[in-house]
Amino acid sequence: MCGIVAYIGDKEAYPIIIEGLRRLEYRGYDSSGVSILNGDIHTVKKKGKVQALVDAAEGVNLEGTIGIGHTRWATHGKPDDINAHPHNSGNKRLSLIHNGIIENYSTLKKALIELGHVFHSETDTEVLIHLIEEYQTRNNCDLEEAVRLALKKVVGAYAIVVIDSQDPNTIVGARKSSPLVLGIGENEYFLASDASPIIKYTNKVVYLNDEEIVKISRNGSFTIKTIGNELVKSPTIKELDLKLEELEKDGYDHFMLKEIFQQPTTIAESMRGRINADEGWIQLNGLERYMKRFMNAKRITLVACGTSWHSALIAEYLFEELARIPTDVEYASEFRYRKPIVYSDDIVIALSQSGETADTLAALELAKEKGALTYGIVNVVGSSIARITDSGSYIHAGPEIGVASTKAFTSQLVVLTLMALRLGQEKGNISEGEFRELLQAMEDLPRRVEKILELNDKIKFIASEIQESNHALYLGRGLNFPIALEGALKLKEISYVHAEGYPAAEMKHGPIALIDENMPVIVIATNLSAREKIVSNIQEVKARKGIVIAIVKEGDDIINEMADYTIEIPGTMETLTPLLSVIPLQLLSYHIAVMRECNVDQPRNLAKSVTVE
Ligand code: AGP
Repeated sequence: MCGIVAYIGDKEAYPIIIEGLRRLEYRGYDSSGVSILNGDIHTVKKKGKVQALVDAAEGVNLEGTIGIGHTRWATHGKPDDINAHPHNSGNKRLSLIHNGIIENYSTLKKALIELGHVFHSETDTEVLIHLIEEYQTRNNCDLEEAVRLALKKVVGAYAIVVIDSQDPNTIVGARKSSPLVLGIGENEYFLASDASPIIKYTNKVVYLNDEEIVKISRNGSFTIKTIGNELVKSPTIKELDLKLEELEKDGYDHFMLKEIFQQPTTIAESMRGRINADEGWIQLNGLERYMKRFMNAKRITLVACGTSWHSALIAEYLFEELARIPTDVEYASEFRYRKPIVYSDDIVIALSQSGETADTLAALELAKEKGALTYGIVNVVGSSIARITDSGSYIHAGPEIGVASTKAFTSQLVVLTLMALRLGQEKGNISEGEFRELLQAMEDLPRRVEKILELNDKIKFIASEIQESNHALYLGRGLNFPIALEGALKLKEISYVHAEGYPAAEMKHGPIALIDENMPVIVIATNLSAREKIVSNIQEVKARKGIVIAIVKEGDDIINEMADYTIEIPGTMETLTPLLSVIPLQLLSYHIAVMRECNVDQPRNLAKSVTVE
């Protein structure tokens, strides 16, 4: 997600801000920019890495002791120089940086255009700076009050910092659902998305709370008030004792573990503004625009690689069960070379976290040549797949740094489930009652994921019991078969253990020959529909002295009795099972990899995005 750094004090702001932005690069971004106030506001912003910004700033007068800087993770508007932050007001007096999503930006933008405001970017953020300008001009008020009035109109998440060329001794910041930290130095103040740009200068910080506005004055004072204009008396000043390296991982040992634990939030983010269980609606704009095409489609083909291919396998079950649309799943690398038959009324959906996977891109190009409608479900905004597809839905999981995909996988499943539900609703395959029940269950997913994450220590113990095995089998049925594949992929790619996933029923067609006392068998048995069968599969394994680790729904005493180790997770509706049953497998593979002293975040031979064939 985006990174924010701001400075006011007695030093040159530019070098401090650039170094701070570099400390935030781990958050993932696609463009960056800086505004320094020295008489006027001098702004430089550039697509690409911070170094591209530094190169572009060569020769620009960026002297000054107050400034703001930003690394952008695009949500609205592709990554380019214009959409990069900071964004400046029409009267060139104000400059703003923002981390978050303004959900009602299109309504606000329409109103501001009617008032004569001219926009240059495709971003939601630019609306904010024009709204602040409007209030400041109309009410002739100071920056802090203009920011407060504007934020009262905003729906969404924000961490912002604003500077005003007519008030060079003040910086204003505010936050809601997106972090903002105030650093208190000697005659200097900092604002940043987290403490990593600050810790070099001071360990005294104040973490702003939601709907709080901070006004920093160069004379060495700051005040915090709420959006409701109440003064926050004696804000808590913390003294950090963290090392810089830890901060980038928010205290987690690895990005992968941080991203596993982010899933309650990222699953919620992938649903934000897209479902309302009380009112009973799903809104996926990319899908609505082509609903007719989807209703008339004779076939949906999903193309993907790796973990994204596992998401596609789950989508096949969901699309056929809920939307009753014939659905195929293809490895993108196979699809692109096997001369597939693609009809012009087909729909080809590409799943990709990075949006840059070469095989998936090539498969899409082939589909486009054949006239199919192409739809992209990606994480990285403005990525190649997002740009070449006719339509699509972003999964809003935020940057995924760990090579092993975790939070992107569950966010892909959320979007695919929403699509299947919406298509099923449009086709009339789902009753109103079932539809609302599923939406309720979806809205409750983050809480259930939280409960599973509380099992981390138990899962770590189980990992310690099998971490020396060099082989593992993962078994599942129905929607949990792709989860068996995903669990096996997680283990093999970060711990280098040879692991295979199979439909449990396939055991008797060969794999059961592998079973002996040295073979851990992870059985995902959370779906009721296949429970009796999977119980007998467990018995088959136990009869051959296999070690059974079972993932079951809470209270499943029968399997609990049979298995050597059991991980009991909260139940949910069958359709949503994969979103929960994958979490223990992510943690199991993580702990085994750590115990085997593997490089969890950058496993050998692997890249985060396979942009070559
Ligand atoms: C998953 O953990 C792996 N990193 C890998 O299989 C990955 O899913 C695959 O390379 C596809 O990447 P994409 O989703 O960015 O297209």
